Amino acid sequence: MIPIKSERDLRVMRRACAIAAKVLDDLCLMAKEGVSTWQLDQAAKQFMQKYGCRSACYKYRNDSLRYPGYICISVNDQLIHGIGNKDVILKSGDIVSMDVSIVYQGFVGDNTRTVYIGEVSPEVRRLVEATDKALHLGIAKARQGNRVGDISAAIQEYVESCGYGVIEEFTGHGVGKHMHEEPAIPNYGKPGTGPLLKAGMTLAIEPMITMGSPEIYIGDDGWTVYTADGKPSCHIEHTVLVTNDEPEILTLPSNF
Ligand code: MF3
Ligand code: CO
Repeated sequence: MIPIKSERDLRVMRRACAIAAKVLDDLCLMAKEGVSTWQLDQAAKQFMQKYGCRSACYKYRNDSLRYPGYICISVNDQLIHGIGNKDVILKSGDIVSMDVSIVYQGFVGDNTRTVYIGEVSPEVRRLVEATDKALHLGIAKARQGNRVGDISAAIQEYVESCGYGVIEEFTGHGVGKHMHEEPAIPNYGKPGTGPLLKAGMTLAIEPMITMGSPEIYIGDDGWTVYTADGKPSCHIEHTVLVTNDEPEILTLPSNF
């Protein structure tokens, strides 16, 4: 991606990310036992309308397939790209990740959280906490002069020290005028390698972690990614601005 230089573009990008965080925040309050993932997707559409933005996912294509949902909603062994479904009703013990990418005045904000439904086992909570910790260790490396591999290595090292699996098939990414821009931000790698980070870059950093084996497969809908062993998985994401000082998390709901 081309680092954002103009004050005007940076202002719009900040706003896009703040709105993405607000939509996600509103959705998290709705994610309760008895609610279907289809209801969450419909609510996402409404919230986006209310905040004057649109989904970056709706009709997004991979090959010839257009994504039919407004956000991605992935439950338990669904790792990413789950599609809202009337038959998927949240129940106690589930974890649900909601991935909200929106376009606002030509800029994209991208963020994901994984929330608990009712009583979640300590084992599964530990997975979610580790994913969040890995994300923040990665964010801490998003500094001018560092390289993408510094972010990747920080995530991988922590996740593997916890005994969890790191997904290699999907990565974080640059984000700005488009949802997916260069550089890719893998969740595995070596320090000091890969593209150089510059002030003005906006990066979607998003660890995708499995409790068991990192082997995955894509379901019959052509989108939903599942763990091969059926064990739970977790995905958490922020959009982060590289500056000449501390990294700045743009997708905090408090920015709204
Ligand atoms: N927002 C996701 C990401 O973090 C990608 C969504 S894929 C789509 O990269 F098909 F749903 F658009
Ligand atoms: Co992303």
